[in-house]
This record gives sequence, C-alpha cells and structure tokens, in this order.
Amino acid sequence: MDLSNQSVAADPASLCTVFDEACQYDIRSSLPVLVQTLCKAALSVAMLFVATYLFTSCRFHLTSGHDSRFKGKEPPTLPYWIPYLGNAWSMVTDPHSFYEETLSKRPDNGPVTMRLGPISMYLIFGAENVQAIFRNSRSLSFEHMQLRIAEKVKGLPTSDKAKLGLDDSGSGSVPLNDQRGDERIWHNLHNIYLKNLTERSAVDFLTRKFVVEFAKQIDALPWKQTTTGLYAFLQQYQFNASTITLAGPRILNYGGNPRGKAENQVQFSDTFWEYDAAFMTLMQGMPRFMCRKGWAARDRTLEATKMWLREATEAANHSQDKHADPDWDESFGHRLVRERNAELVKYGISFDGRAAMHMGLIWAINANAVPMTAYILFELARDPALLQRIRAELRAGGVFVGSLTEIDIAALVKLPLLNSVYSECLRLRSSIPISRRLRDDVVIDGYTLKKDSFLLAPSWLSHINEAVWAPRSCSSGPSEKTYNNTPGAQEFWAERFLYLEATKTKIKLGDYCPYGGGSVICPGRFFAKHEILAAVAMVVTRFDLGFEGYTLLDGTTPSQRGPGMEKAECRGIVSLDRDMRVTMRRRDVF
Ligand code: HEM
Repeated sequence: MDLSNQSVAADPASLCTVFDEACQYDIRSSLPVLVQTLCKAALSVAMLFVATYLFTSCRFHLTSGHDSRFKGKEPPTLPYWIPYLGNAWSMVTDPHSFYEETLSKRPDNGPVTMRLGPISMYLIFGAENVQAIFRNSRSLSFEHMQLRIAEKVKGLPTSDKAKLGLDDSGSGSVPLNDQRGDERIWHNLHNIYLKNLTERSAVDFLTRKFVVEFAKQIDALPWKQTTTGLYAFLQQYQFNASTITLAGPRILNYGGNPRGKAENQVQFSDTFWEYDAAFMTLMQGMPRFMCRKGWAARDRTLEATKMWLREATEAANHSQDKHADPDWDESFGHRLVRERNAELVKYGISFDGRAAMHMGLIWAINANAVPMTAYILFELARDPALLQRIRAELRAGGVFVGSLTEIDIAALVKLPLLNSVYSECLRLRSSIPISRRLRDDVVIDGYTLKKDSFLLAPSWLSHINEAVWAPRSCSSGPSEKTYNNTPGAQEFWAERFLYLEATKTKIKLGDYCPYGGGSVICPGRFFAKHEILAAVAMVVTRFDLGFEGYTLLDGTTPSQRGPGMEKAECRGIVSLDRDMRVTMRRRDVF
C-alpha cells in the first residue's frame, strides 16, 4: 500500500481512518518479520544447545570407559547443554537431583569433571574415593574454600583475604613450605580449635555452660502452656544459649536496625537467621541488587558483631588483670574466641576482618546445631511412643543429676536409643560439601586430578546409599546377614544405628561423614553432639509436646508436609523449610 498516492479527504474523521489503516498495515506487515526473527534466534540457540549436548555427550561416553583409568587422564567431563555455563545451573538450583543424575551416568562411582562457568571442578563419589580425599589431606587445601566463604558470605575485607591467602603452609603440624611460627595462621588457628574444642575438659566446660544458659532461657519463660513453632522456639532460646556460651551475653544486645526501627527492637537471633537464609545466595556471589534482603541481613549481623567486638576489646584493655585466663568471661565469652582474636591481631588482621571471622564462628555453631536439634525434636514430637521411650531412657540413665540444670554428660552420650536417633537424623538431614583445592596432582580411582583445580565430594549420596543403609536381602551376600524389611535408606528409622551395631555392620567414614574428614574434620563435633543431645533432653524433660501440624516458616500458614530434602542446599545441616506447630506444656518433672 503506497500512502503517498492516496487522495486524502479533508475531514478529520477520514484522516483518522487513513491513519488507523496505516498503523494496522505497519503492525501487520512488521509482525511476521519480528516473529520470524525471534523464531530464527530461538532455533539457533536451540541448535547450539543441542549441538553442545551432543558433542559433550559423545565426549563423555568416549572418555568414561574403564580403560581410561591409570593413563594420567583427568575424569571425563559431564555432558551439558549450555556452553560456558556448563553444569552450573543444575548444580546450583537442585544439587541433590544433579548428584543423583550424575551418579546414574557413573554407576561405578568414578569421578567426573564438572564445568561451572569459568572453572572446572571434580565431583567425587563412593566411600573409597571419599576416603582417598581424607587420606590425601596434605595435598588438598581446605583454606582456599574457607577464604572464599569468608569473603563472600562473611564480608571479610579484600586486604585481609589477601593477607590470609599468603599462608600456604597448611594447617597440619608439618609445614608444607618454608613458612614458620606466626606466619602459619591456619595452623595456629587449627591448634586453637583442637585445644578448645576437642580436649575433654574443654568440651565438658562448654557443655555445662550451655546447659546452664539454656536452662536460664527456658525456665524464665512466663507461661505454663503455649502453642508455638518448635523450630522458631529453638532459633531463639537455643541460639541465645549457645551464642552466650561461645561469645558471651553482650552480642545479644545488638540486634541490628532494619527498616528504620529503633535500635535493639530486633533480636540478634532474628537478624542472624535472616542472614543464614541468604548463606548460599551470598556464597554464589549474587550481587547486592539481586539479593537485597540477604545482603542487608548480613550487614546488620556483621554490624552487631563489630559493636560486640569493640566493647569486648575495650573491656579487655581496661581489665585489672591482663594475664587472667579464665575459661569464660562476660566480654569475649569462651577462651576459644579470646585466643582466636589474639592470634588474628598478631597476624595483622584488621578489626573489620576479625569481626567477619567471629561472625563465621557464631554461624558454624548455630547454623548446624540448632536445625539438628529441631530435626530430632520433630521426630519425637510426631511419634509419642518414641518420645516416651526417650524419656524413659533419660530417666533410667540418670542423666539429670539432682536438679534440671545439671547433666551427667557421660551418661547422656551413652544412651543407646537417643544416640541412634541423633546419628540417624544427622545422616538424613545433612548435606556436606567436602570441598578442597589441589596443591598437587592427586590420583583418585585411577584418574589424575590436576594441581590448582577444585574437587567436591557431596556427602548426600553416601548417606542415602541403599546398599549401605538398607541392604534388605543380603542373606546370600558375603556377610550372610539377613536385613529383610529394614526401612529404606531415605526413611527415618530411630533404631537404624542400634541395628547396625547389633549386626556388627561396619560403616566406612566415606559412607558417613556429617562432620567431614581428614585433618580438618570439624573440631566442634564433640561439643555439637553434646549440645544437641543436652538440648533435646532438656526440652523433652521439661515440656509435653503436642503435635498440631506443620507450617511454613512464617509460623502460621499451614503446610501438608514437614521439612523436606528436595531442593536442599548442600552446605552442612540442611536448613528447615517448614516448622512444626506444637503445644508445649510444662511437666511436673520430679
Ligand atoms: C551438627 C553440627 C555441626 C556440623 C554438621 C559441622 C560440620 C562441619 C564440617 C562438615 C566441617 C568441614 C570439614 C571438612 O570439610 O572436612 C566443619 C568445620 C568446622 N567446624 Fe563444624 N560442624 C558442626 C558444629 C560445629 C560447632 C558447634 C563448632 C564450634 C563450636 C564448629 C566449628 C567448626 C570449625 C572451626 C571448622 C573449621 C575447621 C578448621 O578450619 O580446621 N562446628 N564443620
């Protein structure tokens, strides 16, 4: 239609008609062009994805045969659809499904190489291979990953990160290079952990302190009966008790100041859990504008930690007795924190850097122990018969000595059923990312993992391996044991660990590693266990727990299901995505 040749009528109505026609003409004629262009672009992208997948699949199949081992080759690279991004999307959005899918491509547990944007990383499966990682601790650096977490998640200043990165002598007693003495910050910190978290007297002190503080929190509650979210209850009172045990009470005075509210209106625990919810997003390096709430919660938690550290440092400077070395003091809390702070000062870490590191320790203790306690109490609250058996075991075991604030720890850790429930929940509710950077080439399962690359061994698949945890019909197998009708590996079974013990079934470290392994195995594992068992014992002894149903984490919106493991983040004890509503009623204990 040639508009220039149109005879244009003088009246405005006709002008409008012509204009409308012209517009319709343009849209009608240009739409197909636009659609065609978009279709072509979409087709090209789809073809690129398909071609990438075909190429990477062929490469994977050609290089993953058994004969590719022991030839100095790296593990085969997993197929992927999206060039450059590789496996990153599946790995980040749904790690458990991704691991399961990968294992189905490698039924012999052979390692694979993943492409994750600019880096490639080896994924390691199978008990033997995971144990090989633990055995090769000297050739594998844990510190590199620690530094990444410290920078991305804890806000460690870049200058401090660079300074900490200068020490590459490892955390073991024998240095891996010529660095010595005060230059060996990782080794010196490691020794502080060993002294304050693994020696019997230190663990007993920490546990006793926790019990006293938790009792203070829950005995002061002004009600006889209440209906509440059980996880929310622990997120406040257990959190407060273990934070006081570790860092003293003063940090709880600083809650942060979100959205212009008056200072201290928000509890430190609230700010902390908001920060915790953003842990993985921060870790993945999500920019501030895409994760405002998480960044803001991180900033507030860090600010609160700085205020506490400033106050603690001033109090220590004004102390009359500079040489006093108590197990615990009001300012710094446990000796562990005081000694760690002094070591970091000596090494030249800035005030802001130390605050970030302290926040990390407060995270390590709470973000794992509190959810774990919740998982155990959920199992007991939804199964009154199991709860009664645990109460009976606590009574018969003489766990509470005289008063409810004194616990016989040795008796507590011996209770068979409680320990079995603890180990079972730890198995089912943890997803540990054992991640290391290679200092040297290391051979695992016949493949050469190259120096300066990264590896990841997720605990999840080992923890749900049917062959290990529920070998139902092994009566004809080499062990000649009969395991008929044992609940599946993904089901909770309170007696599973009792059963394994009774049948003298040996579980390898590579099959069960909730606390990691090798030279950097979690040094807090003894205290963590004591704290969790003590918290469970204290709650079930003091309160009746009436199960009302599940809710979302807002505490009010009902949910058909309890906490799930679908889409769980691989970061330690899996964060709960549901709470349990319970009616808590004080019991007449004695
Ligand atoms: C259920 C509770 C806990 C779990 C599941 C857990 C798990 C872990 C894991 C998997 C690691 C890394 C080990 C590796 O990669 O091989 C680790 C390291 C660590 N954990 Fe824990 N942890 C827990 C509680 C605690 C507690 C209560 C503390 C402190 C009081 C703590 C302090 C640490 C420290 C300091 C490290 C770093 C070790 C180093 O740098 O040498 N953890 N933890």
